Amino acid sequence: MTRNQIAAANWKMHLTYAEAVDLLNALCQQPLNLQPHQQVVLGVPFPYLLPAVEKTKSHSQVYIAAQNCSDKLQGAFTGETAVGMIASVGATFVIIGHSERREYFNESNAVLTEKVNLTLAQQLTPIFCCGEALAIRESGTQNAFVAQQLQESLFHLSDAQIKKVVIAYEPIWAIGTGKTASAEQAQEMHAHLRTTLAQRYGAETAAAISILYGGSVKAANAKELFGMPDVDGGLVGGASLQAAEFLQIIAALK
Ligand code: PGA
Repeated sequence: MTRNQIAAANWKMHLTYAEAVDLLNALCQQPLNLQPHQQVVLGVPFPYLLPAVEKTKSHSQVYIAAQNCSDKLQGAFTGETAVGMIASVGATFVIIGHSERREYFNESNAVLTEKVNLTLAQQLTPIFCCGEALAIRESGTQNAFVAQQLQESLFHLSDAQIKKVVIAYEPIWAIGTGKTASAEQAQEMHAHLRTTLAQRYGAETAAAISILYGGSVKAANAKELFGMPDVDGGLVGGASLQAAEFLQIIAALK
């Protein structure tokens, strides 16, 4: 397996600091027994970035992610967080374009392009989220819709840059609903995305890019989902808030 297999947690706007420390301690207590191509990424709220970096620093394959970043480099943007700030506390990943950001904060493909560019310029790894709403899935146009999300926000990148991007396919109808895409549905979309990447960048580059599945991943379904040839791990919301559950998800990586 040449490309990285990643278990990424998205804590969203959950947990007090004390609860976050308990969860980090529980995750870091035992060796995770990760193989060289396996990574764990914890997407924590901004105030917990630095302590999360410090708590996990003895685990070489555990990385800390911000859940968002500003589309501006720096300046008078009250309440925003710049990529340089995220990097300066030792976080190494940024979740970009989560459907909740797109929907509730009106983030367009164009704004996300800026965020991807800033993240890469800062040597951070973007986890770029894409995925269709239920109405699009029901109309059968999901493949074109998701391909367009990649095209508009990523396809200006060079070959060397796109290889540094992690993609997360998250069908909106499966997020927080308990309604997981079937392993076959996930594989079908992931294969489609890899083909779309191959058409733009060539098969070798496309084969090197990790594509995560997100949407109601839990310990009970992780093995089947991650077992699919084009599913390279998951971006996990609710189930990442419980140590025992997330540890099992990590153990399900191939
Ligand atoms: P969920 O969230 O696992 O709770 O469905 C996934 C996500 O939104 O990243």
